[in-house]
Amino acid sequence: MTIRHALGPVDAFTPGTATKVEVGNYEVSIIRVGDDLYAIADRCSHAEASLSEGELIDNEIECPRHGALFDVTTGEALTLPATKPVDTYDVVIVDGEASLVITETEPV
Ligand code: FES
Repeated sequence: MTIRHALGPVDAFTPGTATKVEVGNYEVSIIRVGDDLYAIADRCSHAEASLSEGELIDNEIECPRHGALFDVTTGEALTLPATKPVDTYDVVIVDGEASLVITETEPV
């Protein structure tokens, strides 16, 4: 199943910031890097922390709790104590309007 959620104009997201949005059961951090928007799961893969409250440096966001860095373009954990990636989601931009696209996979 695919979930589409309108985010509004890209320019509503300030470059260098992360914004938390809730869509159904998903908590997602929408991150603007330059002219691009990226979407990653908001919850840190290490423990309970909201990545959107962390500091963003270029395309890396720092978990506010223990300081792990994540690449917002891939979800990859770059530093300890996080060892697992966070989920990433698609952001589609049409005529300056952004939509979050979450593709749910069937449980195995
Ligand atoms: S909760 Fe994010 S690094 Fe520990």
